[in-house]
Amino acid sequence: MNKTAKINFEKISLPNSGTVVLFTTKSNKLSDLAKELDTKNNKFITKAIKAANFKSAKSSILEILSPTITDPKSANYDRIILVGLGDNKDLTKIDWRHLGGTVCGHLLAKNIESATLITETENDAEFIANLGLGITLRQYKFDKYKTSKAKNNSDDETEKESELQKVSIQSIDASAAKKQFTNNLTPIQQGVFAARDLVNEPANILGPNEYAKRIKALSSLGLEIKILSDKELKSEKMHALLGVGEGSRQGSYLAIMQWKGGAKSEQPLAIVGKGVTFDTGGISIKGAGGMEDMKGDMGGSATVVGLMQTLAKRKAKINAVGVVGLVENMPDGQATRPGDILTSKSGQTIEVINTDAEGRLVLADALWYTQEKFNPKYMINLATLTGAIMVALGKEYAGLFSNNDELADMLVASGKDTGEQVWRMPLGEPGSSYDKLINSTFADMKNTGGRWGGAITAAQFLQRYVNETPWAHIDIAGVAMASNKSAINQSWGSGYGVDLLNNWISENFEK
Ligand code: BES
Ligand code: MN
Ligand code: ZN
Repeated sequence: MNKTAKINFEKISLPNSGTVVLFTTKSNKLSDLAKELDTKNNKFITKAIKAANFKSAKSSILEILSPTITDPKSANYDRIILVGLGDNKDLTKIDWRHLGGTVCGHLLAKNIESATLITETENDAEFIANLGLGITLRQYKFDKYKTSKAKNNSDDETEKESELQKVSIQSIDASAAKKQFTNNLTPIQQGVFAARDLVNEPANILGPNEYAKRIKALSSLGLEIKILSDKELKSEKMHALLGVGEGSRQGSYLAIMQWKGGAKSEQPLAIVGKGVTFDTGGISIKGAGGMEDMKGDMGGSATVVGLMQTLAKRKAKINAVGVVGLVENMPDGQATRPGDILTSKSGQTIEVINTDAEGRLVLADALWYTQEKFNPKYMINLATLTGAIMVALGKEYAGLFSNNDELADMLVASGKDTGEQVWRMPLGEPGSSYDKLINSTFADMKNTGGRWGGAITAAQFLQRYVNETPWAHIDIAGVAMASNKSAINQSWGSGYGVDLLNNWISENFEK
């Protein structure tokens, strides 16, 4: 599946051959080692910098092919690659991660199988570890459905890249970097890859039945897993969630994953996800254009499942519960109709105006169940909930809605820290003018709020299923799938949110 290069953290010692990557800073300042090599060998680096008009801007690359080296005598390099750091002082851990991704992209594009990266400045070990994480994240590929023949004549350039086998990262404090990488960052990478895999998987393979099975198997990581299927969901009176799956040949599920790494008495952090494995719109069927993207409508749940794996793999010292509603939204003779009225687990009734506003129905019961059952300290849900959030924010930010300023501030801070950014949107109090937009003539509420502010009325709907619990809703429709490609993500399914929420947990509850 995902074969990524082995990453070694080593002490600084210039190799004699192969591909060597050196970093330069603003005004083309060479590191000590680079300077020595340059001086001893007829200034070949300085000359190349001049010839290429290289400026050492952040993430810029200059490749010097098979330089003539006389000292050390036995040295014979395929390439010396210079990578610009820009102004070294300003670099954050996310910059280092992106630098790793950029270097890795270059190595892949040039079919380089192994390389040695040498960072000589007194950089924080965390930065060097993040350089490694960037290299690994960049290599993610979802090619399990490409037969080997097709792989080589794919129209996707990235498919032609050969496997990078080994990357050595040399630095001053290599053992601290290695420790960081192994204990804290590899679990993030594993969670992100797991989430990307789930989002990329087609809906004929990953329907609710298969998804529930895959979650069940995560008990091997030390997670406590409980799966509620149709029968139990009926006795739990989750008719909002069940109403969405009515038209599907497959079952509907609520999957509960618990990680108990904290004290027994400690209230858990709850993360809830929308897991619509395919969203046709139901009877209010969507247009054909781009409907294939709706295999990714389980992106919120994928983030939850990925995050729970990250927490388990790094043995986080907190209690967390992940809850995902798994359903398929299909049109059928049995499917829920517009005008139907569903009674949710909370007892509140919902007039279904549009069967394509299904995510909020799933979350209504999942949120109510989670807060009733676990009394969480904080509850956060993630969902590819509305097209409207993309109209508002594009694909750069996820939309954040919260009933609690402190929680919102924590999440905005984690967004800045990880680069998985959130932008806070308005949310009205119960009874406010925003909230009133979902009042219904026939039931307690309707599942759509009219033409304007579609992402907000969706959030108002969810809020009606949250009591006193500090809660946040993150609308990830624009960032979970068909996401912007970056140095560290070339995948359709981005795995957005795993890093964000893992950071939120480690920064606020484990320090
Ligand atoms: N899953 C969609 C939202 C979506 C759209 C996610 C595009 C990712 C990309 C959601 O279930 C939906 O269909 N929402 C409707 C709500 C409307 C009917 C009130 C929408 O946004 O159009
Ligand atoms: Mn929909
Ligand atoms: Zn949907």
